[in-house]
Amino acid sequence: MLANEIRTKYVEFFKERGHLHLPSASLVPIDILGEEDKTTLFSGSGMQQFKPFFTGAATPPSGRVTTVQKCVRTGDIDSAGDLSHCTFFEMLGNFSFGDYFKAEVIPWTWEFLTVVVGLDPDRFCVTVYQDDDEAFEVWHKVIGLPEDRIHRLGESKNYWPANAISEGPDGPCGPCSEVFYRIAPLEQMTNDPSLTPTERYKIDDDAGRWIEVWNNVFTQFDRSADETGKAILSPLPKKNNDTGAGFDRIVMVHQGKNSVFETDLFQPILNKITELSGKKYTGTMAPVDFALRVVAEHVRTTVFCIADGILPSNEGRGYVLRYIMRRAIRYAKSVLGFDEPFLYKVAPLVIEQMGGFYTELKEREGLILQTIEAEEERFLRTLGNGSVRLAEMLNSPLVQELKVLSGHDAFMLHDTYGFPFDLTKDMAAENGIAVDRPDLSRHGLNSNRDREMRVLQKRFGRAVKVPFLPCKRMSLPLDFWVIPRLLPNHGLWRSFKTTD
Ligand code: ALA
Repeated sequence: MLANEIRTKYVEFFKERGHLHLPSASLVPIDILGEEDKTTLFSGSGMQQFKPFFTGAATPPSGRVTTVQKCVRTGDIDSAGDLSHCTFFEMLGNFSFGDYFKAEVIPWTWEFLTVVVGLDPDRFCVTVYQDDDEAFEVWHKVIGLPEDRIHRLGESKNYWPANAISEGPDGPCGPCSEVFYRIAPLEQMTNDPSLTPTERYKIDDDAGRWIEVWNNVFTQFDRSADETGKAILSPLPKKNNDTGAGFDRIVMVHQGKNSVFETDLFQPILNKITELSGKKYTGTMAPVDFALRVVAEHVRTTVFCIADGILPSNEGRGYVLRYIMRRAIRYAKSVLGFDEPFLYKVAPLVIEQMGGFYTELKEREGLILQTIEAEEERFLRTLGNGSVRLAEMLNSPLVQELKVLSGHDAFMLHDTYGFPFDLTKDMAAENGIAVDRPDLSRHGLNSNRDREMRVLQKRFGRAVKVPFLPCKRMSLPLDFWVIPRLLPNHGLWRSFKTTD
């Protein structure tokens, strides 16, 4: 089956089981009551819009609802381009608001995956929360899954949100049961008889031999904290279910592919980019393949964000979108050889491919294409001017000797030329040069910029304060901040006393 067919079958399956099909919420996380959910910048799960139904703050139109939710998660943005990470994905959802619970949803899960999608029942294992005997029994006694394929794990793995009991956030939460599909050949799986089945599962999961395709969250508690910060788990008025299934991953295993980029969700987009660039996609981790995936992945995120009114800007969601777009443009320019705007030529394909289900894409096609082209033109100009200036800085004798570009210079590139700090860091690293951390107070940043720079700084990892720099020709401030992972592995550097 093609992806579009699997999506339709999912919705039909749950409609046949009494679910009301509701549209995806916007990528701007606004709940069903019209309130913005400030816990995330983007909608990142199917249940987000329904929080008021879970807590009892609003009455759902039906006790059973199904959706296909557009999601953006940007925690691993710099990994996007590898074979698995995506910033945009679709989450299949079925929800019970005080209606069905574990005894119904686990058999439906199994039926959809093994009968409708036709996945091999012998290639599944599942996890349940450590003391969730009820879920364990349904998997074992009703579905017939052997005990050694049901693993009991703690709250970091089998609670949603993860670690919600000890760390929060407050709000609806509960134990969950995840479903994994074996993607490695049997002979590669750990078979050490001295280990328990769960220990073997953990080793294979860490090695990427299992892929999680489905998560049933049994949303039954409302978490709050007492004055000492200790968690209080109050039972919700009714027991609920929140299913989040990875649509792209189900498509991938169904189509027998090794990555989502080989499925029909991405192949047409990759074909278009290869046609425009004249490069070939071979599915490896080589730079050209990586860049092709970055562009294909980011163009989808871009199209969906703009359709939901998120426009590239210097703040909040708009800033993240700008970062994503500029990342795609950078890879396309430096690795694929695009010097002219081209993302806007790929975007119509995404609109054509997904616009049947997400009709907003077609309705806002003009806005989407114009916004993309304008941002591309603007950024390509910035890149041109900034790269020339940065190259001059990197070639200066002082920088060449210290192998460090000062925070002042990095800041100036950002402030005067709009040249992204990340790009400064990348280009400097390509020349074996570290970038000093800009000192915010010295530059008197206004609050927007301040926030933006803090976000960027977080991305560089921990910075350490170095008491002095033993260099004769040093003209840098004494309060010198460096980023350890960018430093050369040199005894001199290692001998610095560091503070956090
Ligand atoms: N809300 C759950 C998740 O995102 C299903 O995994």
